[in-house]
Amino acid sequence: MPPRPTPVPIPRTRPPPLMAASAKRPSASALAALLAARRGRARLVAPLCFFLLLLLVFLRTHPSAAPPTSLPPSAGPGKVAFLFLARAGLPLDFLWDAFFRNGDEGKFSVYVHSSPGFVFDRTTTGSPYFYGRQLAKSVKVDWGEPTMVEAEKMLFAAALEDPANQRFVLLSDSCGPLYNFSHTYTYLMASPKSVVDSFTDKADMRYNPSMSPVIPKDKWRKGSQWVMLIRKHAEVVVGDKHVFQLFRKHCKMVVTKALLGRRLNARRLGFVFRRKQKGADEKEHDCIPDEHYVQTLFSIKGLENELERRTLTYTSWNQSSLDPKDKTTWHPMTFEYDTASPEHINAIKSIDHVNYEVEHRTEWCQCNGTSVPCFLFARKFSYSAAMHILEDGAIGLLKSAQLLVNF
Ligand SMILES: *[C@@H]1O[C@H](CO)[C@@H](O)[C@H](O)[C@H]1NC(C)=O
Ligand SMILES: *[C@@H]1O[C@H](CO)[C@@H](O)[C@H](O)[C@H]1NC(C)=O
Ligand SMILES: *[C@@H]1O[C@H](CO)[C@@H](O)[C@H](O)[C@H]1NC(C)=O
Repeated sequence: MPPRPTPVPIPRTRPPPLMAASAKRPSASALAALLAARRGRARLVAPLCFFLLLLLVFLRTHPSAAPPTSLPPSAGPGKVAFLFLARAGLPLDFLWDAFFRNGDEGKFSVYVHSSPGFVFDRTTTGSPYFYGRQLAKSVKVDWGEPTMVEAEKMLFAAALEDPANQRFVLLSDSCGPLYNFSHTYTYLMASPKSVVDSFTDKADMRYNPSMSPVIPKDKWRKGSQWVMLIRKHAEVVVGDKHVFQLFRKHCKMVVTKALLGRRLNARRLGFVFRRKQKGADEKEHDCIPDEHYVQTLFSIKGLENELERRTLTYTSWNQSSLDPKDKTTWHPMTFEYDTASPEHINAIKSIDHVNYEVEHRTEWCQCNGTSVPCFLFARKFSYSAAMHILEDGAIGLLKSAQLLVNF
């Protein structure tokens, strides 16, 4: 993701240094190996394991349970809508599958925005929770462009159609849960406020005066795009046309040398870029809409006192740029098998405040007036990191036989 200088989470206990991570292969159990084989990661797998997998599939007597999300909207307890913004498939579907499988089927729903035409079925995911959950309507997302926000808005709009959905969690395809379903559900449903990372960065050059007066400069905000909204606020986002129109016109990303490497990397991952025409405004107004839109919209609408101004999704920032003072080159680090160890994950789970340096604000994490750990989710997880979290058992007990059949 794009440059993201602040805030800096302050762990209560210092986590083990991420840089020490070696390139050691996962100590894959037979289960891990079988999973990997089915997912085309055959390098981890001995031929014998592959044979076992074929045998298990052959011996399978009945298909897995129908997707619970196909149930009609109930008048029961409120649901949490999990909204996945995916590039194509969901590489961590097996982790979420274990999470949902340990959950209560009437208490959540799943929505995925992926590339137009991508279909979630047995051929593209091993998890029935994602079957047919791709939005009927979707846009081709250009990284760092307003189409990213458009995709978010489509996810919120689709989820609002089910009146049972009360909380709306936006997740990337590299986000994973840190807790089991019941803990996550209780935490989210207890919060009468949305959780939206939002701050004012005086050094931020992305505001374009042409946005005034609809977007006044003093309402301009910045923050992580991974938000959790209550229903009322999801309606505000979906209902807004005016502010988004101005974002479309005046908040665009520009190619810079610093971004080029990242852009190439992103292109490899499937993002699509639009070449920007040469023109005015470029230097000052390089703007990444998804890091500003929801925050700024809520600030304009006077809703900031209805927000927990922080994020639920932990990101580990790589601060080792060539110039240590140059925070603009920080970028998210990917958890690998070693860095997703129980010690490190527990250190993240023990964080209870976040330091917003630019605002000289320390945000003590709260939920309905009670002190809580800040993070329910984290990114970015590699496949092996997700395997480690599954093995650790924090998000729920694995039914290994089920997994073998499904993946
Ligand atoms: C979920 O996790 C919490 C603590 O994180 C634990 O107290 C609870 O027993 C777990 N529930 C289930 C259903 O696994
Ligand atoms: C939120 O806190 C209030 C006051 O402490 C309490 O009455 C209410 O039950 C809490 N709500 C939830 C959903 O936990
Ligand atoms: C962190 O960033 C530096 C410089 O960009 C890079 O050389 C290094 O490999 C990165 N470390 C990790 C763990 O991603």
